[in-house]
Amino acid sequence: MATTTEAKLGQTPGQGANPLVEGLERLPVHPTTLVIFGATGDLARRKLLPAIYNLAHEGALPERFNLIGSSRSEMSHEEFAEQAAEAIRQFSRRPADDQVLKVLLANMRYVAGTFDEDSVYDGLGELLDGFDQEAGQPLNRVFYLSTAPEFFPVIIEQLGNHGLNDHEGSDVRAVIEKPFGTTLEEARELNRRVLSVFAEKQLYRIDHYLGKETVQNLMAFRFANGLFEPVWNRNYIDRVEITAAEDLTIGTRAGYYDRAGALRDLVQNHMLQLLCNVAMEPPVHFEADEIRDEKVKVLRSVLKPTAETVDQIAVRAQYAAGTIGGEAVRGYLQEDGVPSDSNTETYAAIRLEIDNWRWAGVPFYLRTGKSLARKVTEIAITLKPVPHLAFQQEGSVGVRPNQLILTMQPNEGVSLSLGAKIPGTRMRIRPVNMEFLYGTSFMSQSPEAYERLILDAMRGDATLFTRNDEVEAQWEICDPIVQKWEATPGPLPQYEAGTQGPAEADKLLEHGARWRAI
Ligand code: BG6
Repeated sequence: MATTTEAKLGQTPGQGANPLVEGLERLPVHPTTLVIFGATGDLARRKLLPAIYNLAHEGALPERFNLIGSSRSEMSHEEFAEQAAEAIRQFSRRPADDQVLKVLLANMRYVAGTFDEDSVYDGLGELLDGFDQEAGQPLNRVFYLSTAPEFFPVIIEQLGNHGLNDHEGSDVRAVIEKPFGTTLEEARELNRRVLSVFAEKQLYRIDHYLGKETVQNLMAFRFANGLFEPVWNRNYIDRVEITAAEDLTIGTRAGYYDRAGALRDLVQNHMLQLLCNVAMEPPVHFEADEIRDEKVKVLRSVLKPTAETVDQIAVRAQYAAGTIGGEAVRGYLQEDGVPSDSNTETYAAIRLEIDNWRWAGVPFYLRTGKSLARKVTEIAITLKPVPHLAFQQEGSVGVRPNQLILTMQPNEGVSLSLGAKIPGTRMRIRPVNMEFLYGTSFMSQSPEAYERLILDAMRGDATLFTRNDEVEAQWEICDPIVQKWEATPGPLPQYEAGTQGPAEADKLLEHGARWRAI
């Protein structure tokens, strides 16, 4: 295997460098050829190509970097490069610089064909070898599977059949997009097939939430501050509420979404990752496997739903027509491509319990939905009420349990609510907030999640990717709910688009708790 430039990874960033982007700029990466399957698809156009451009702009790509796109449409290398440039111009977070773009496009190639065709892999093999020869050394190879999930096993097997899963003198890695299976059984089968071709250490299963700065900050927040650890347990915490609300409808994604639903789309992956970040024990070292071991322990400690408990711990619903941001929107069942009798949920809320020493008895509430009042992703940690109120009746009315809110998006930051005396001659109390906002503290634009993840895959750092046992443990929690819902006929409860979601979700909350406003 190649000796990568990892020896230099620990170098100290320069004084005054921007702490949010210096990691991307400064860590050296072994020369790499990146192959994107599904290179003309939506994800590649909107996220992957712009992310690669931004890495190039920051000088974070390896000195030698080549990109090969592959998809069904027939086109020349030049036509692909032109399409890539268009996507970058349209979707990059910063305006495209012609000079940077020119260098990037010069090393772009394209291979057309369906993913089961041998000619695709022969073509890729030739191009990959050609790049190695040009460089005078074997380059690392990263295969990025950004296709519909049914092609994942086909592509992986074909890479194996053509000997592209290994390369003398360099590292070969495969990045696999979500969804990783649509049931526990499928995820296991996919793991089995993928692991018969690649070793686990070559695999990078994407969960783009892990690439978000604010999600990574959760670990910094917990493990770089002594303040929170003493209260971070069942003795002080009353409940944890994780919300991933969206004000978007399903748009043109009916084909995918109607087969997935909210639970598979967001809970099984992103939201359970957020839960792991809140609940995991501190790792001894900040290393991929140690962190993932801790997350797997959390997932295994979650009490598994059963056919009998699903109705008590999970609620599903669909959006009905309504108004979002002043615009009238259709109901889910009226969306193009959605069957009028669909039972797919666009909203899911669940109550989970983590049965271990730290968390036993603390409810973790997770909710997500499309077409809600606004987009917000946050974790709200509510502490237990104070044990005794010494104030007179009037003074106590405004006393609320402390709440710590970690906001992933928008208005990224952390806020702690405290009871404070209202100025005046009487002792009256109301909650006030102590706030940290990313935007004002760091004054910089965070890199997009995909920038970080693509770079990490090229560097061989799997910390922010999901391991095989982790993805299966996530499915073990969601699968009983999926099974029960699929076996239970609709119609589903409805909520008006642009609102807080279905009233039915209130029944999950214990001890008089209320959902935070979206
Ligand atoms: C994706 C889901 O994984 O995450 C989408 O498939 C969802 O349905 C998206 O909209 C949300 O991501 P973000 O980064 O906008 O919170």
